[in-house]
Amino acid sequence: MLILGIETSCDETGVALFDSEQGLLAHALFSQIDMHADYGGVVPELASRDHVRKLLPLCDQVLAQAGKVRADLEGIAYTAGPGLVGALMVGGSVAHSLGFALGVPVLGVHHMEGHLLAPMLEDNPPAFPFVALLVSGGHTQLVRVDGIGAYQMLGESVDDAAGEAFDKAAKMLGLDYPGGPRVAALAEKGTPGRYRFPRPMTDRPGLDFSFSGLKTFTLNTVSAARDADGLDDQTRADIALAFETAVVETLTIKCRRALEQTGCKRLVIAGGVSANKRLRAALEAMTAKLQAGVFYARPEFCTDNGAMIAYAGAQRLRAGQRDGEKIVAVPRWPMNTLPAITEPRSAGLVD
Ligand code: KG4
Ligand code: ZN
Repeated sequence: MLILGIETSCDETGVALFDSEQGLLAHALFSQIDMHADYGGVVPELASRDHVRKLLPLCDQVLAQAGKVRADLEGIAYTAGPGLVGALMVGGSVAHSLGFALGVPVLGVHHMEGHLLAPMLEDNPPAFPFVALLVSGGHTQLVRVDGIGAYQMLGESVDDAAGEAFDKAAKMLGLDYPGGPRVAALAEKGTPGRYRFPRPMTDRPGLDFSFSGLKTFTLNTVSAARDADGLDDQTRADIALAFETAVVETLTIKCRRALEQTGCKRLVIAGGVSANKRLRAALEAMTAKLQAGVFYARPEFCTDNGAMIAYAGAQRLRAGQRDGEKIVAVPRWPMNTLPAITEPRSAGLVD
């Protein structure tokens, strides 16, 4: 089944073609980062308008790349939420219009389920069950995954998401949006041990997270350093490293707890922050000690992309799920309300 996947939930227009027998055929992404840079964050109305401009040309681009035409499509998947409602509406409108014109089924997909399943696009995909750490700009969640749609929430952030914390720390350090990769790059030059940041909520049981205290701690450290020596480049790098280390260690401690608590031997990490090299290395080391394994997608499929939506949509469309005639756009949407695919399929490409 040949599926077109459309992602427009925030500031990336992502499109991909996934075939349930041949795998991923093509994908393309346009990032609006430069457009939003002047504002220090995503401006929702500008985002929606740019998706309008970019989406159809990107659809044609992936079809051409794969040597296909619109009439070859057998289903269309789009991100229905969570996300910016105007941006979601653009993807939903294009998906439903194309689906109506071509007479093929259309399905709104959950953005975080897309992230969660992105590692399935890689060689050696994880088998169910596994524990997933979802770490993006808007979410930090630990989920037990027994199959597609069989999600049990183990813990989540009670305030800021991990990616959001990276973005805010970046701003304090004078770095542009999105902050995660920039903080990570600055931290490369940091001196280990000069600063020690707290590991929030690790000294008590449970799998919830909190990152807002770390944000305040960063702000206070930056202000104190600025007052003392004018915040030179080495100090900025040292703070970046201390911040990144604290986030990575906090996530690692909670992931270890989740694996121990569930008895799962597989950990999946997904979402923008899962591209972080220090996090990957820490989780590799932690899972090795537990004789477990960690799975993640290539960096371009950790951040927002169309491939993950095409993949997730393909699994659900093949199981017979589809939208009615209405476009679905759900800005807030808990992932554990999704229907399960009744017979969880094995992770690989099957038919
Ligand atoms: O999944 P994503 O692309 O969008 C959302 O669904 O939110 O995640 C974006 C987030 C941003 O907060 C960004 O700063 C963070 O992921 N991020 C990173 C890295 N790459 C992206 N954080 C830490 N290290 C990275 N290498
Ligand atoms: Zn995302």
